[in-house]
Amino acid sequence: MTTLETPPEKKPFHLRGNYAPVFDEVTEHNLEVVGALPPELNGHYLRNGANPKSGWSPHWFAGDGMIHGMRLDGGKASWYRNRFVQTRALNEPDASMIGDDGSVDRTIGVNNTHIVRHADKILALVESSFPCELSPELETIGVHDFGGKLDTAMTAHPKICPITGEMHFFGYGFFEPYLTYHRVDASGVLVQSEAIDVPGPTMIHDFSITESKIIFMDLPVIFDLDLAMKGGMPYRWDDDYGARIGVMERGAVNTQPTWFDVDPCYVFHPMNSFDQGENGNEIVIDTARYPELWKQGSATFNNDAMLHRWTLNLETGGVSEEALDDRQIEFPRVAEHLVGLKNRYGYADSSFKDQNAIVKYDLETGASVEHEFGDDRIPGEPVFVPAESGTAEDDGWLMTIVYDKARDGSDFVVLDASDMTADAVATVALPQRVPFGFHGSWMAD
Ligand SMILES: [Fe+2]
Repeated sequence: MTTLETPPEKKPFHLRGNYAPVFDEVTEHNLEVVGALPPELNGHYLRNGANPKSGWSPHWFAGDGMIHGMRLDGGKASWYRNRFVQTRALNEPDASMIGDDGSVDRTIGVNNTHIVRHADKILALVESSFPCELSPELETIGVHDFGGKLDTAMTAHPKICPITGEMHFFGYGFFEPYLTYHRVDASGVLVQSEAIDVPGPTMIHDFSITESKIIFMDLPVIFDLDLAMKGGMPYRWDDDYGARIGVMERGAVNTQPTWFDVDPCYVFHPMNSFDQGENGNEIVIDTARYPELWKQGSATFNNDAMLHRWTLNLETGGVSEEALDDRQIEFPRVAEHLVGLKNRYGYADSSFKDQNAIVKYDLETGASVEHEFGDDRIPGEPVFVPAESGTAEDDGWLMTIVYDKARDGSDFVVLDASDMTADAVATVALPQRVPFGFHGSWMAD
C-alpha cells in the first residue's frame, strides 16, 4: 500500500508530480496579468479535480474534490482561490456510502469531477453521488438532491440544452436499474426520471443530447464485485459484453432507447452530437474514443483516445465509424451554446507523450490547428467562452490551467480561439500549483 512516506518514485502516477495534491486553501486578490484579459469577461472560471486531503487515494478518480477558481472583472484578475468541496466523504471519514444492508447513501461522495451552473445553482459533481452546491466564492452550501426527488447518482456530465434551458442527465450504479435518465426544467425542478434497460452495470461517464434525442453509450467496462471487495476502482474491460449506442426521443415518457451495435471501445467524453440529414434521420456523435480501457487493470491509462465519429442512420439502423484524427486527445469541448446542435469547431487537450497542445478541429474542412505550449508547459481542458459581439462560431476564447514544470507552478491562461497559433491573450501566474484535474466551466455574471 502506498502511504505518505512512500518515496515519490514509487507512488502511483496520480500522487506524483503535478498529480500530487495541494493541502492549503489559498486566497489572493488582484493578480498580475501578463498580456491583457478581455475586458468583457466578467465572471468565474471554476475547475474541479481530485485532491486527496490525506495525501493518499486508491485511484486518480477517488481523491477529494477541490475547486480552483478565478474571478475576472473588466480586464482584472480579481481573485484566485481554491477550496475543498466540503463533502461528507471529506468531513466524516467513517461514513460509508454502502451500508451493511447493501443500501447506497448518495449523500456521500468526493464531488471531484466537474462543476456546472444551472438554474442559478453551482453544482460540484461526481458520478457516484448527489451533487454538492457551492457559492461562487467556493463555500460549500450542501448536498443538492432536487428537493428529495433524485434517487440515483448524478453523472458529472449533465447536458444543458441551449434551446430549452433544460438540464438532462443520468445516474448509473451497481444495482438495477443500472441506468436512469433524468430531466430538470429550466427553473431547476426535476420533472422526469426514466429507468433505462441495459444488460449489465457498466461504467457510463458521459452521454450526449441532440435537439431531438438523448444518447447513451453502453460500453464494455463493467462492474466487478471482486475488484470492489479489494477497494479501488471496481470496473474492468469485458471482451464479451459488446458495445452499443442507445438513442431515445427527448420528451418521450415510459420508453426505451433504440440500440445500435458499435465496435467495442471506451469513451469517457463525447465532444458533441447533433441531428443531421433530411427529417433528422441521422445522428452524428463525435467522441474521444479509446480502442480499449482497463484490460490490464485500472491503475494505468494508455491515453490513446482519438477523435472519432459515429454516424447513426435511424431509418436503416446502420452505423458508420470513422477516425477523424490520429492525435491523442482528451477533454473535448464545444461552445456551450452549441451543445446538441451542429458545431463546426471543437477543442481538446492534446498533451500526451511528445507534445503539449490544445488542438482546435474544424469539422467542416477536416483541418486542425494547435496552440503549442512547449516542453515544459502542460495545459488542461480547454473551456470555450464566446465573444459578446462575435459573429463566427470561433469568435471567443479558450480558458485553461497550464502547469509550468520549470517553476513547479501553474498559470491561468486565455487563448484567442480564432487565432490558435498566436501567443496567449493573457497569462495569470497563480499563487500555488494547481494539480492536473478534470473539468471546469466559465460562469459569466
Ligand atoms: Fe469527465
